[in-house]
Amino acid sequence: MINGEFLMTFEYAPAPESRASVSIKSKYGHYIGGKFVAGEKHFRTINPATEEVLSSIALGGKKEVDAAVKAAKKALDMNWSKLSGRERGKYLFRIARILQERAREFAVLESLDNGKPIRESRDVDVPLAAAHFFYHAGWADKLEFAGVGTNAKAHGVVGQIIPWNFPLLMLAWKVAPALATGNTVVLKPAETTPLTALLFAEVCEQAGLPAGVVNILTGDGSTGALIVNHPGINKIAFTGSTEVGKIIAQSVAGTNKSVTLELGGKAANIVFEDAAIDESVEGIVNGIFFNQGHVCCAGSRLVIQESISDEFIKKLQKRMEKIRIGDPLDKNTDLGAINSRAQLEKIKDLSLAGDAEGAERWSPKCALPDKGFWFAPTIFTGVTQTHRIAREEIFGPVLSVLTFRTPQEGIDKANNTPFGLSAGIWSEKGSKVLWASQKLKAGVIWSNTFNRFDPTSPFGGYKESGWGREGGRHGLTAYLKGVAHE
Ligand code: NAI
Ligand code: MG
Repeated sequence: MINGEFLMTFEYAPAPESRASVSIKSKYGHYIGGKFVAGEKHFRTINPATEEVLSSIALGGKKEVDAAVKAAKKALDMNWSKLSGRERGKYLFRIARILQERAREFAVLESLDNGKPIRESRDVDVPLAAAHFFYHAGWADKLEFAGVGTNAKAHGVVGQIIPWNFPLLMLAWKVAPALATGNTVVLKPAETTPLTALLFAEVCEQAGLPAGVVNILTGDGSTGALIVNHPGINKIAFTGSTEVGKIIAQSVAGTNKSVTLELGGKAANIVFEDAAIDESVEGIVNGIFFNQGHVCCAGSRLVIQESISDEFIKKLQKRMEKIRIGDPLDKNTDLGAINSRAQLEKIKDLSLAGDAEGAERWSPKCALPDKGFWFAPTIFTGVTQTHRIAREEIFGPVLSVLTFRTPQEGIDKANNTPFGLSAGIWSEKGSKVLWASQKLKAGVIWSNTFNRFDPTSPFGGYKESGWGREGGRHGLTAYLKGVAHE
């Protein structure tokens, strides 16, 4: 014992998950009408932890988008719309079970293509994806009890565009409610992370899903725009940047397409002086460093009461020194690779803006791998509300710390953002938690915890964080036509 502290640390040998559980083809086509169809142009997806090329992926153009929309419409008219909810539900149950059976394969593939730690893909992404299918399977034959009347109808063909931060999970958030409500789907995964969506096509086959009910088109933003603007698409569901969300909102204005947008965030985690400090430190670490901070609802602003700020920051720094960075396939890894070179550049640029505007940067000493895209866990103290790092979504492992004196000032600072997706409240006092949660302008509010997700709970934001909700009964009704939204 030195200075009253135990200095016992454990060194763990590397414990990498085996790559043998996945087989990646050197080239993939699109999954259209129940078949893989060769693409014309291709791009590469890499492992961001090593820069190793994983596969060559088809870039969807007008011809492929037309074919996918046509296949989805045919499946809708000939098959899917004729099935009872109970029959549809059976397919969703099957998909959920197959995801569980193939969980290891999905987790390893997700970590390879995305760079996230296997501990997270194994314990969060894949189980939650299966849970979304189980939950929505239960709804399929009970839509008349969803509180939306007995005559709610599917939109028809749904275009779904998803991001790279939770590739399989975002697919599940989109596909499960669409199928449960009787829609058919054209889904486009993000260009840096298409592999688990392509593996999901195999799951659809295994589940015996009728051809064309789910179509997976790979490509970039140009493919996404073709889907959004296709006249055969009846509804768009998008998760991604606020910038692209605004373009989509403009594109669908004046059409009959219905749209839900799940966009960016700049969540505040407010820590009051009566909070349980050690638990709050854990919560703040989870809030910003989970998934390398590539989380729309990440707690990227710590708004902390001045009276406890110094003590808190010291404890936070000590905790950050224990974060393990490195091989995403190692079960001991806490922080994996940044998803792409472009995202790494964005994180670096915004961090440089933090330095230039006068905030103070701190990171623990840690060795970063030579290859791949890496960024050390970072906090900025002395941040003011006008700093770019307090206003813009960094989408990386960077925490901006702001302080307040009175609870009302804390709320004002937390709400001073163009976003409104999530927030966290840390206090031992129930009345203060309730008071703060009523004043915070955010779609999801956690108290004394953070980043908790459940398919039964609606998720979505205010202001520039988007339109509509996903998950729960609210998310379900967004896939039904003629239903007033609450
Ligand atoms: P992005 O919004 O460009 O990409 C998301 C998806 O939209 C991808 O599948 C992409 O191919 C597609 N897309 C791009 N342009 C499109 C268009 N015009 N029409 C239809 N689809 C289109 O996001 P990006 O460039 O990968 O990341 C930039 C920033 O966006 C990040 O730094 C982060 O701040 C934010 N972001 C937020 C996410 C969230 O979950 N809220 C997810 C991904 C990014
Ligand atoms: Mg990749």
